Amino acid sequence: MAETEPIYTAAVIGAGKAKDEGFFKGGGHRIGYTHGETYGRSQRTRLIAVADINAENLHAYQEAFDIDQGFADYREMLATVQPDIVSICTYVGLHRQMIVDACNAGVKGIICEKPFLAAPADLAAVAAAAAASGTKIVVPYIRRYFPAFARAKELYTGGAVGEPLMCIAGLPDWDLSEWGSHWLDMFRFFHDDQPVLWVLGQARVRDQRGYGHAMEDHAVAYFAFANGGKAILDGGMAMNGEWTMTLLGTTGAIRIRREDEIVVEDAGGHRVESFVDHPGSSYAAIWNCLLADLVAWLDGGAEPMLGLTNVLESSELNLAAYVSALRGDRVDLPLVDDLAEWPVEAMARRNTR
Ligand SMILES: NC(=O)c1ccc[n+]([C@@H]2O[C@H](COP(=O)([O-])OP(=O)(O)OC[C@H]3O[C@@H](n4cnc5c(N)ncnc54)[C@H](O)[C@@H]3O)[C@@H](O)[C@H]2O)c1
Repeated sequence: MAETEPIYTAAVIGAGKAKDEGFFKGGGHRIGYTHGETYGRSQRTRLIAVADINAENLHAYQEAFDIDQGFADYREMLATVQPDIVSICTYVGLHRQMIVDACNAGVKGIICEKPFLAAPADLAAVAAAAAASGTKIVVPYIRRYFPAFARAKELYTGGAVGEPLMCIAGLPDWDLSEWGSHWLDMFRFFHDDQPVLWVLGQARVRDQRGYGHAMEDHAVAYFAFANGGKAILDGGMAMNGEWTMTLLGTTGAIRIRREDEIVVEDAGGHRVESFVDHPGSSYAAIWNCLLADLVAWLDGGAEPMLGLTNVLESSELNLAAYVSALRGDRVDLPLVDDLAEWPVEAMARRNTR
């Protein structure tokens, strides 16, 4: 007789704003609700608890997901409920401590939001905590699961437009981390996650704040992969017109429109591949993929593409771009820097002195 597959219990830290007030920069996206809905759609997980320091947010979440167990203190929740999986849906500055606490509490799996870690010093600390406890951590750089991006990667790494030259993207009115971390991770994806050799970053930082930290008004990251491919991400200004991203090769280009269509220009001419009607192009679908990958890992499978080993490198790249801007120098990876705070915070202090 086949053994029944285990059901993993899940808990969320950081419910999210009680009311949906629309999409704006700075916080309040209520990503905790997306995590909760994803657990609800899976046959393999059951959401049983939530923790939030804000009573209104906590109670709204308990009501929305019909959960009895709500806690003001996430440590108390970890000790009382002992969940198998924990979602960390708070801002970046809180992640390291919450991960370490969850690892120490015996949590088996963590889905920790991006931007993943706030300081260069956090990278080794989190890796050590996870190694000591055996906790399996994934980060929702979920765009890797969109069929259009997966197809663009297949073509780019497969040589459809020759050797990789340059990936380009701009994020008008955004930044390198709260939005840009998705794109930095995507550029790594397009290069088969091979090592980044160096990063040059520059940033204009004034007094903007959001997500509990200093934010840049405008920043750029320019970096190189071991295979010779390079990438530029402009956090603040649009680039390449209507295109979300452009992937240039030695014999052609792949352009991505929105997140569900690619246009390939190569020796064979110009063709469009649309994923608009693809069932995998919905947000629910890509979140389901992430959770399924974590569950398979917890079941004893291999570490997925968004497992800790790989996402630490996306986080390192993100931080290295800021460290380059802070120090005024190119940063060669691996990142060796003892900074123990969000680098943009240090730039904000320096620039407002
Ligand atoms: N993966 C994605 O596609 C995606 C999308 C949106 C947001 N995010 C990320 O999710 C993170 C959260 O952003 P948001 O806008 O959804 O947040 P939010 O502002 O909606 O909610 C954050 C919640 O954390 C709670 N909180 C703060 N400190 C806490 C603590 N010590 N213990 C427990 N709860 C605490 C707050 O009270 C609030 O309810 C950000 O880093 C953001 O970049 C990711």
